[in-house]
Amino acid sequence: MKKLLIFVSFSLLFSCLGFLDAPSADAESCVNCHRGITPGLVKDWEASSHSKKGVSCSTCHGDKHNGPQNVKLAGLPDEPLCAQCHKKQFDEFAKGKHNFGWTSLNALPITHVEPDELMEGGRGCGGCHNMGIKTVAQKKEQRDKGYRYQNNSCDECHTRHTFSKKEALDPRACQQCHMGYDHPQWEMWSSAKHGTRWHARDSGNLPADAPAPKCQDCHMQDGSHENRTAWGFLGVRLPLPEDAQWKTDRITILKALGVLNPHTGEPTARLEAVKSVDMVRLTEEAWKSEREKMIKICSQCHSSQYAREQLAMGDSIMQKSDRLLAEAIEIVAGLYKDGIIKKPDKYSFAYPDFLYFMQTGGGDTNKLSYIDQVLFQMYMKHRMRAYQAFFHVNPDYAYWYGWAMMVKDLGNIKELEQTMRATHKK
Ligand code: HEC
Ligand code: HEC
Ligand code: HEC
Ligand code: HEC
Ligand code: HEC
Ligand code: HEC
Ligand code: HEC
Ligand code: HEC
Repeated sequence: MKKLLIFVSFSLLFSCLGFLDAPSADAESCVNCHRGITPGLVKDWEASSHSKKGVSCSTCHGDKHNGPQNVKLAGLPDEPLCAQCHKKQFDEFAKGKHNFGWTSLNALPITHVEPDELMEGGRGCGGCHNMGIKTVAQKKEQRDKGYRYQNNSCDECHTRHTFSKKEALDPRACQQCHMGYDHPQWEMWSSAKHGTRWHARDSGNLPADAPAPKCQDCHMQDGSHENRTAWGFLGVRLPLPEDAQWKTDRITILKALGVLNPHTGEPTARLEAVKSVDMVRLTEEAWKSEREKMIKICSQCHSSQYAREQLAMGDSIMQKSDRLLAEAIEIVAGLYKDGIIKKPDKYSFAYPDFLYFMQTGGGDTNKLSYIDQVLFQMYMKHRMRAYQAFFHVNPDYAYWYGWAMMVKDLGNIKELEQTMRATHKK
């Protein structure tokens, strides 16, 4: 009798310990409860290859949360979690340009004077620049401001919870970010020959194997998660060009970007920030190696001669656009020099500063001069279009939305300058 009692209490103890050791909710229970709570999301997961391979809710979210009373205990997975099973894609991503999205955003002064909702909150700048692995300090800053989500970039192209490769291979996966004001690659590509062919093929009006290059074919060859182009977004690189006029124009642009001191021409601390996030190729070789990769892709369908000529035209329109922009910068800089535009408090120099975008950083009462805003638009909207359109083979963006608008901006700037000088009270 005594022996039996000891046996029973031991087995009770063991089963209790067993119960305590077991996950507080098993994979089944997550799915069962969430089928009622968030049915769409469960349907998505069920369609994923994850569900077929036993990658369940708790694999990614942990098992600490098991009901409505402790929702905050559900972990939100970051990229290193995906890396546990997808090291190749993670490593490629980590050395590519996308990985710098969050850091390069935060390197700009503008970011720190705009509402948090547009940054850490994940709309506006932060909605697209969520792309990129955040450091522990960056995550903490986000939490401290009261924002919990946006810990993962791997769901940007193959969205949760289907995580579908097929979806990511659709060019529309790139659209939400690569569109609009300063980088309308979606609009340019989709309304030009390459995109038109893709759409025609998608509607069944071209044979299924007709060549029709889409974003991923040119920018994620062989499924590589490392994205980088030769010129990049800013369209500047080192060393400076050999052509004397172009070199001078480039120096003027680098001053307006605040990476060269406008008075001494010396590099500023900002140059280091720009280098650290890979915003510009720092050597001729680094630039060339990206360019050659691209030529190789074009050569699958075009002669390499043809492709080289096309891309070289993009380079030379950039040079001509730089001439227009530098002339405009010099006009506005002259107004600063003569005290007609006062240096905003936050600016380091009495000189236009493109990295404050459309404002001075001083709040509503300290608005940027209108002529500065026209200049910024010329740089950020129209110069970008003038050369990006060449690379994406779009005639209308190259001329009417790009080059012609730069000419118009310069005309406006000259007109505004005259008025400002004439009405300035000494
Ligand atoms: C008994 C029901 C129940 C169970 C079991 C359950 N959850 Fe939940 N879960 C909820 C409810 C309720 C919410 C809050 C939904 C809302 O905000 O509308 C939630 C929210 C979540 C969230 C979102 C957290 C956030 O910050 O928005 C995640 C992730 C999650 N659950 C994962 C899991 C995982 C993983 C399991 C299994 C380990 C699990 N859930 C088990 C009911 C449950
Ligand atoms: C392969 C990993 C993975 C699996 C498996 C997974 N999730 Fe998620 N889940 C994520 C990621 C990534 C996020 C976004 C995190 C963020 O925004 O910080 C997320 C976000 C969520 C959210 C909050 C955001 C929203 O859209 O409401 C809920 C709720 C959620 N998951 C529930 C579940 C449930 C329930 C399951 C199982 C049916 C599941 N997840 C399986 C990766 C996963
Ligand atoms: C525990 C391991 C594991 C984790 C963690 C994991 N995955 Fe997976 N993933 C898999 C497996 C297994 C497959 C299926 C591979 C196959 O079918 O060959 C897969 C497939 C995929 C696919 C391809 C789906 C398709 O349509 O072919 C994508 C995309 C993907 N995972 C993304 C992610 C992302 C993003 C995360 C992080 C939020 C993640 N995975 C986390 C194991 C994991
Ligand atoms: C619609 C999505 C979207 C929004 C909103 C957005 N960006 Fe971007 N940003 C991008 C994309 C895409 C690129 C890369 C474009 C390219 O290379 O042509 C980029 C490039 C940049 C770069 C240059 C990075 C580099 O290494 O060349 C900086 C800096 C930047 N954005 C800052 C900002 C700031 C600040 C805001 C808000 C005022 C903002 N962005 C709003 C999508 C966005
Ligand atoms: C810029 C969009 C984009 C982002 C961001 C992205 N992926 Fe992908 N992913 C793709 C595309 C496109 C494919 C299909 C590539 C192919 O096969 O040509 C893919 C395929 C995959 C596959 C399936 C590989 C295979 O061949 O079965 C996995 C796994 C994967 N990605 C994981 C990740 C992880 C992990 C991250 C985050 C570190 C991530 N992806 C971020 C676009 C993206
Ligand atoms: C969630 C927003 C988002 C999505 C979706 C997205 N990108 Fe990006 N992309 C960015 C941002 C932000 C940058 C600039 C990153 C930085 O600051 O360095 C960028 C940069 C790039 C660059 C590098 C340009 C350079 O500077 O050399 C390429 C190429 C690119 N993206 C291609 C793609 C392709 C192809 C897809 C779709 C398969 C895609 N992106 C999807 C936001 C996105
Ligand atoms: C036929 C090939 C091709 C296709 C398709 C293509 N691009 Fe590009 N892309 C290029 C070339 C070429 C460059 C310039 C490379 C250089 O600097 O030498 C470029 C540059 C870029 C850049 C850097 C800034 C710029 O515009 O110059 C981004 C970002 C980008 N492409 C995104 C996309 C997105 C998103 C799509 C789909 C909507 C797309 N591209 C479609 C060839 C292509
Ligand atoms: C997968 C095949 C494919 C790739 C890769 C490709 N193209 Fe094309 N491209 C085409 C086709 C097909 C056309 C339409 C031909 C026509 O206009 O009759 C086209 C049209 C063009 C045109 C417009 C010609 C015109 O008459 O308007 C230019 C310019 C061009 N491509 C340049 C490039 C460059 C530069 C690259 C590499 C960055 C590239 N293409 C990559 C297939 C491709």
